[in-house]
Amino acid sequence: MALAGREGITGGGPCGQAESGGTPIGGHGGSILIAMLEESTRENDIIVAAHSGPLSGEVVVPGAKNSVLKLMAAALLADGQYVLTNAPVIDDVVIMADLLMALGLQIERRPAPQGEVGQHVVIRNSGNITPVAPFELADRIRASVNVVGPLLGRFGQIDIALPGGDDFGGRPIDMHLRGLEAMGAEFDVTSEGITGRCSRLHGADIDFEFPSVGATENILMAAVLADGVTTIRNAAREPEIVDLCEMLKKMGARIDGVATSTLVVTGVEPSSLQAVTHEVVTDRVQAATYIAAVAMCGGTIRVARANAEHMGMMLSRFTDMGIAFHIDTDGITATAPERLHSIDVATLPYPGVATDYKPLIVAMLSIADGVGIVTENLYPGRFRYVEELRKLGADITIDGHHAVVRGVAHLHGASVVAPDIRAGAALVVAGLAAPGITEIGDVFHIDRGYDDIVGRLASLGASISRVRPS
Ligand code: EPU
Repeated sequence: MALAGREGITGGGPCGQAESGGTPIGGHGGSILIAMLEESTRENDIIVAAHSGPLSGEVVVPGAKNSVLKLMAAALLADGQYVLTNAPVIDDVVIMADLLMALGLQIERRPAPQGEVGQHVVIRNSGNITPVAPFELADRIRASVNVVGPLLGRFGQIDIALPGGDDFGGRPIDMHLRGLEAMGAEFDVTSEGITGRCSRLHGADIDFEFPSVGATENILMAAVLADGVTTIRNAAREPEIVDLCEMLKKMGARIDGVATSTLVVTGVEPSSLQAVTHEVVTDRVQAATYIAAVAMCGGTIRVARANAEHMGMMLSRFTDMGIAFHIDTDGITATAPERLHSIDVATLPYPGVATDYKPLIVAMLSIADGVGIVTENLYPGRFRYVEELRKLGADITIDGHHAVVRGVAHLHGASVVAPDIRAGAALVVAGLAAPGITEIGDVFHIDRGYDDIVGRLASLGASISRVRPS
């Protein structure tokens, strides 16, 4: 069917304020007022960072936001009880849980047992699913779009708002829809949302013009229960996608080519799938954040559970900046140089340098010795935090999708605002390297993707706190 007006539809809605977690998760029933009050007070929190360093000690990094949200969506595919271990304690997990609970899953989170990190997300799927996602929840996170593939694949129906998430300019989902259409789905798309339907999806040959993370995940999950073989060429191969493939395979899916750019999925019957327990892959962006902190503040730290293989290109470029690494079987030890060296970097799909590292790199370059050019190849609008770094004294010029960063000897403290998750974390790290006091507002963005960044940095010796203005 023709999808008039679909091209250029964006999911870049306003970034939502996340709700505080409870057990069970979800802002339903009698707890809604308390949750809303808590939410509105947390919204005003400020992170106060004072000039810090050298840092020392160890942080343990939990599972990745960009994996756990998709693993949660995968639980729509088969009935039973799932346990996601090593899940990060972040607000996007709460929002995704609310969304999935509105569809009919039961979800609770439990503190991780002694010796583990993060939390356990326990999901029960009784098969009683209503494939209608409430607008206000889907609008809050980008990963909400990941329910489209499993819902169409299993129930043949979907009604959902266009996904929200960080606002980096247009974030279309045309590749998701075209791929699903090739498998037999039909969509009606308005400026508000998507309605889709199909009888059983069938296998298809899908060639992506760009290795989109979200589109790869959606087609993958849709293909698991499709009739026949689906081949995804130029698929994204981020570690979080490999993690999703591993969980799907454990559930009974048949997937070849995992970790390569050609994924071949042979559809199975629903009765062949089962619920599983799965450990979420470590968050490489949170790991890089602590490395950036030590790089800017000086010292030596160990980032436990960080997977160096998943961060290969980034670690290589960090090495070019003068950071020394020791890799062991379960972590990375990073030692800062006397002063960071400037480099030129371009963001690219994995295995390239991820766009999510970029605000950290720009912050690091702002005190490096020389001029570095950072080229953004994924999100043209992902430079909104530059104005905030300038308030700290950074010398950065934007030219199209390039940032020219001239290293200064010192930043200085200032009041800034986190414009999104990763930029917020970069401002926290830059604040620690800046003589004086830096106050970071709108920390609810950071809460969406960072598991206790303040506590972890403080444990490394950073002078940092989170305050709630009275
Ligand atoms: N794109 C299209 N059409 C599509 C899909 C994508 O044009 O149908 C474009 C996007 O507009 C964008 C580029 O392709 O310019 C990358 O999009 P992709 O689909 O690869 O990313 P995503 O799935 O929307 C995930 C992460 C992002 C991360 C990107 C790239 C989640 C929930 N989000 O987004 O993470 O930056 O992959 O690695 O997994 C973050 O965690 O802070 C974050 C923004």
